[in-house]
Amino acid sequence: MGGQVEGKTAVVIGGASGIGWASARLLAQEGARVVIADIDAAGAQLRVDELATPATARRVDVTDEGSVQSLFEAAVSEFGSVEIMLNCAGINRPGYITELGASDWKQTLDLCLTGSFFAIKHAGRVMGRGSSVISIASLNARQPAAGFAGYCAAKAGLAMLTEVAALEFGESGIRVNAISPGLVETPLVTPLTSVPAIQSDFTDNTPLRRNGTPEDIARAVLYLGSDASSWTTGEVLDINGGAHLRRYPDVMAHLSS
Ligand SMILES: NC(=O)c1ccc[n+]([C@@H]2O[C@H](COP(=O)([O-])OP(=O)(O)OC[C@H]3O[C@@H](n4cnc5c(N)ncnc54)[C@H](O)[C@@H]3O)[C@@H](O)[C@H]2O)c1
Repeated sequence: MGGQVEGKTAVVIGGASGIGWASARLLAQEGARVVIADIDAAGAQLRVDELATPATARRVDVTDEGSVQSLFEAAVSEFGSVEIMLNCAGINRPGYITELGASDWKQTLDLCLTGSFFAIKHAGRVMGRGSSVISIASLNARQPAAGFAGYCAAKAGLAMLTEVAALEFGESGIRVNAISPGLVETPLVTPLTSVPAIQSDFTDNTPLRRNGTPEDIARAVLYLGSDASSWTTGEVLDINGGAHLRRYPDVMAHLSS
């Protein structure tokens, strides 16, 4: 029996770690040919070596448009087409607005928002009917967090960029969606989960009372990448154990106490 994405090619940007890696692994298990693309080229190659199915590692820096364009051109020349793109690279440079340096602001916006624009733009240029563009936004696209100005603004921008791209790509039969995770245990958030007061504030503000796993998000990526979601576009899917129903923890206050 074929997998849920049998015969499709998936380009996973930020695929060497965390949510991207869990998604790449699940897409491969479900029959996709996977391109694991990351600024960490060695990490991407190690992940490819862990997979049992045909896969390729590529270095990409999403802040560099030429690098993103080359990634998609190389994927098309190697595999013939690209049907799934997961846009998963992200960072957060926290700081209160009155203290936040321009370079920290710009780095977060460059990676999370402009990088997403480059990824969606060049995916849209090579993809065809029945393809799926997926971005990882965040709970912070809808829930503000003191000290996360750049991250919140970038992720809210990504949610709107997803909707605009869904409008523009719909005629070509390309679907564009995003997933907004709550706190998911990856290297990105170890500085938060390792502080007991921060961890318990997250748990108290999550009705299902646990952190997410990368696999929780990967299963939604599989759904959005597969034909099971063939009438879904312009959607920003909250996957967070219900955390959007409460408030975002005051991480900065915990860190300074
Ligand atoms: N972990 C969470 O709690 C959480 C919550 C909400 C949203 N997110 C979002 O999920 C996405 C994945 O995060 P994660 O938690 O898996 O983090 P992670 O740090 O485990 O993985 C991020 C990957 O992106 C790569 N990367 C960084 N800069 C890059 C660049 N310029 N070009 C290409 N690749 C680059 C890194 O090398 C790394 O492999 C991010 O967009 C993040 O903002 C994470």
